[in-house]
Amino acid sequence: METLEVIRNRCSLKEQISPREIEPGILYTVLDAARYAASSRNHQPWRFVVVQGQPAVQALVDAAVTGTNAVIRNAPVVIAVCARPQDDSISNGREYYLFDTGMAVANLLLAATDFGLVTHPMAGFDEAALKRHLHIPEDVRVLMITPLAYPASESYDEAARERLSQRSRKAFEEVVFFNRWGEIQPEMDAIRA
Ligand SMILES: Cc1cc2nc3c(=O)[nH]c(=O)nc-3n(C[C@H](O)[C@H](O)[C@H](O)COP(=O)(O)O)c2cc1C
Repeated sequence: METLEVIRNRCSLKEQISPREIEPGILYTVLDAARYAASSRNHQPWRFVVVQGQPAVQALVDAAVTGTNAVIRNAPVVIAVCARPQDDSISNGREYYLFDTGMAVANLLLAATDFGLVTHPMAGFDEAALKRHLHIPEDVRVLMITPLAYPASESYDEAARERLSQRSRKAFEEVVFFNRWGEIQPEMDAIRA
């Protein structure tokens, strides 16, 4: 897919998980894409714990993932995204470990989408239980988890169709201002390239 197409087609698809294994080369490439993200002073605070294989994924879900998020139990891979706050800058009270790790996660999700794989970022898990389960050190935060899977439908497009048709986003004018806060350019939507 083209870059903009990937950005527009990425969506969260926890209900669309196939247990089919992910080829090691694809898994590597998706994780490698995360490493190329920009970060404050190049601190690269992100760390990824890759949980592979259904028995390990199911044990993780049983230990730390509850509610509707537990549907990821059928995924061949779940990635826990971690960072140590002290590994990155704090600038005027802004803690950049969160921002920088988010940048890496965006790369990861987009690379997965490019391969036609399903992802779903999740903050809904028991962090303490997950850390115990994966032997993650005390001073490391687990910021999110995502399954990585082939879609249960025939193709990514098929799997994503319904979700994308229901997608809601704030209007361009609500989130983009020109020259000063609150000033909008009403015609912008019409001139999209
Ligand atoms: C940090 C973060 C945490 C999220 N946590 C959950 C979650 O626990 N459970 C869930 O179903 N979706 C979760 N989501 C998915 C969001 O609901 C989803 O990204 C949002 O509704 C936009 O939909 P889209 O990703 O399909 O574009 C999370 C997303 C992010 C970025």
